[in-house]
Amino acid sequence: MHKTIVNTQPFSDQKPGTSGLRKRVAVFQQPHYLENFIQSIFSTQSPLSGGTLVLGGDGRFYNQTAIQIILRMAAANGIAHCLVGQGGLLSTPAASCVIRQHGAQGGLILSASHNPAGPSGDFGIKFNVANGGPAPEKVTQAIYAYSQTIRQYTLLEAEPINIHSLGKQHLGDMLIEVIDPVADYAALMTDQFDFAAISELLAGDFQMRFDAMHAITGPYAQAILEQRLGAQQGTVIHGTPQEDFAGQHPDPNPAHAAELVEMTQGDNAVDFAAASDGDGDRNMILGKDIFVSPSDSLAILAANANCFPAYPKGIVGVARSMPTSQAVDQVAEHKGIACYETPTGWKFFGSLLDAGAIHFCGEESFGTGSNHVREKDGLWAVLAWLNLLAVKRQSVRQIVQSHWREYGRHYYSRHDYEAIDQTCAEHLMDRLREQLPMLPQTRLADLTVAYADDFSYVDPIDHTTSSQQGIRIGFTEGSRIVYRLSGTGTVGATLRVYLERYLPPTGQHDLDIQQVLGTLATLSREIADIKQITGRERPDLIV
Ligand code: G1P
Ligand code: ZN
Repeated sequence: MHKTIVNTQPFSDQKPGTSGLRKRVAVFQQPHYLENFIQSIFSTQSPLSGGTLVLGGDGRFYNQTAIQIILRMAAANGIAHCLVGQGGLLSTPAASCVIRQHGAQGGLILSASHNPAGPSGDFGIKFNVANGGPAPEKVTQAIYAYSQTIRQYTLLEAEPINIHSLGKQHLGDMLIEVIDPVADYAALMTDQFDFAAISELLAGDFQMRFDAMHAITGPYAQAILEQRLGAQQGTVIHGTPQEDFAGQHPDPNPAHAAELVEMTQGDNAVDFAAASDGDGDRNMILGKDIFVSPSDSLAILAANANCFPAYPKGIVGVARSMPTSQAVDQVAEHKGIACYETPTGWKFFGSLLDAGAIHFCGEESFGTGSNHVREKDGLWAVLAWLNLLAVKRQSVRQIVQSHWREYGRHYYSRHDYEAIDQTCAEHLMDRLREQLPMLPQTRLADLTVAYADDFSYVDPIDHTTSSQQGIRIGFTEGSRIVYRLSGTGTVGATLRVYLERYLPPTGQHDLDIQQVLGTLATLSREIADIKQITGRERPDLIV
């Protein structure tokens, strides 16, 4: 088979963000664009040469085309063995699982997560390393640096490869193995949870729905919930992955999964409902008339970890991303376990998980997970809640409310200002940074600033430093405002403002969230001069 070397020029915009390289499909469709980035990975990640690569994606538009190109490049770059999910499919947590179980040197996950798909939507590539987790910053920096000087890439000339039938085939010297995308992952789930107890719960009059949002988790949820656990047929809705996610926005939050939220309200409300995103790493948990905020979900799972067969003695520690509410900190303090605050992005949990310093971790952005893989895992969170419900035999609402009575409630919300001008957004952040030294001890509305800083993190295991990770303004009675710019957007900049207010166990826990956070919301706009600088009066999205 003929190996071709193609001359190319660098693209200046190939710096990976919070979660891989994410761009409009049209950007990836430019000649050489995808190839340059893939070559930058293969050329800088030497363990891949002669090693095993895992390949799959969330099934979105351009997945098939990209897989064909990547296979031909992998073969030309000396990769010995490539495991491909059948049909090119692998959810993000399943890819992490497959990398770990098969001892692969890395994996490529083709996804732009919850961003809309289709020819005018987004596409993305995430490179995961041998521990199954997202490449750490030093790896993504090396890939980016290479992409800025690239002059050539190489690929094999070959006919399209059949990735739809299970089994082995050769492409040049490379062995391609098309695997069942669900099998390894489903087996791992049975080790983590009490499937007998969950089956018993589902066999009764308990009603649930799982919304796969026309994306990757459909086949996983059907296999695990309906086939293995015996949930009624039809439990999984929107379960067939579509290339354009049916034109929807597969982001599991109350705004984008409104149909599911409705199913938890009114006379025929189901007891439990959950959703996952485009690539299967996010989750949303709902009970009858209640939405469980992701920060609370992490805290509740951590507080009840001994309900899971994998943690009979509870867990050793937890971590949350900095903007995530401090609910889990309360649990860690009560239980006397370690608690880490990391920058935004799952990659920062990897070293803590590898070192055995934590068992559970999560982010406010609907990400929850454990040390079973090195990615956040939507279905893991859903099964964890089902396991909890099966053991406790209480409703979701009862579990959440009794948690608040024990630990207090962290009222929490994120206000996003989307697609604002990049220069304005950077100016806004710079202005905030300038104000930081003046803020402590200042009285704002009826609150006193306790601290104001730009979050910087030193990884306690590998001692790498990540600075400028978001601006924190903390008040004396525990409230917080956090500002950061999104690292996953594809149009302009997104300013995320995170608001949090704590009411202790004796406080009121059934108030309206936005009302409780009203003063903080106003302050957040005033301190950062949001209207003046961006022209925006109010957020585009409130979650
Ligand atoms: C967002 C979330 C972050 C998450 C990432 C990938 O990143 O805020 O928690 O890890 O998506 O799912 P952002 O756009 O804020 O950089
Ligand atoms: Zn995702």
